Amino acid sequence: MGPRSETRRTSASAFAESAGDPRSTLGGEVVLLRDGSSVVMRPLAADDHAAIASWFAGLSAETRYARFFCWLEQIDPRTLSELARIDHLNREAVAAFADDRTTVGIARYIRIGELGTAEVAVAVADDWRGRGVAGLLLARVAARAREVGIERFIALCLATNDAVIRVLSRLGKTTISPYDDEIVELQIDLGRTDPGAAHASRE
Ligand SMILES: CC(C)(COP(=O)(O)OP(=O)(O)OC[C@H]1O[C@@H](n2cnc3c(N)ncnc32)[C@H](O)[C@@H]1OP(=O)(O)O)[C@@H](O)C(=O)NCCC(=O)NCCS
Repeated sequence: MGPRSETRRTSASAFAESAGDPRSTLGGEVVLLRDGSSVVMRPLAADDHAAIASWFAGLSAETRYARFFCWLEQIDPRTLSELARIDHLNREAVAAFADDRTTVGIARYIRIGELGTAEVAVAVADDWRGRGVAGLLLARVAARAREVGIERFIALCLATNDAVIRVLSRLGKTTISPYDDEIVELQIDLGRTDPGAAHASRE
């Protein structure tokens, strides 16, 4: 978390306001961003289709390509259901919500193969970039991963995606290797955090 960011628990009135809202901020954390704006961050609930659809709607075509590696105009029901499969153990997602309850970012992991490894991914709405949302979401999703025994994240991203390489490599010692002509694979050791580091070594 950046030095200019701070958190506080949601107020009782915010809890009351959110009752019954499918994109409830209940149990969330109000997070002050580096530009003075704020969001509420909380883990997504299982089957929170509305929150995921709201997030997808805020992503430009280029952002969707960077996240999914294909040109998606709409989110199909199968992908939506897949993204909403969350069990807080093998599949976790943390979301950021604006004041109007739109979802402005989601970071997630899915445990894969060996027990100690999970694939991580993140995307932030275009209008909310550069305020630290991705870094703050990833720090939370990594903390939850460590709690359930995940020691290593892997991530696939476009080789030219300096922003995500920078923000992911803050989570721990990172190595980058080619995956194909367009994509690289990052391996991030969650046991060796280095908050000051914003670089990764390429193999
Ligand atoms: C990558 C992404 C998640 C970053 O979101 P964000 O909320 O703007 O990120 P943050 O504000 O936390 O900034 C992360 C860091 O990247 C840096 N950064 C931002 N854009 C950058 C760029 N074009 N080149 C290099 N660094 C960049 C920021 O300066 C920041 O570093 P800093 O804290 O030292 O200033 C966002 O751009 C996005 O959603 N991209 C499309 C989806 C995607 O690429 N997902 C990856 C698949 S896993």
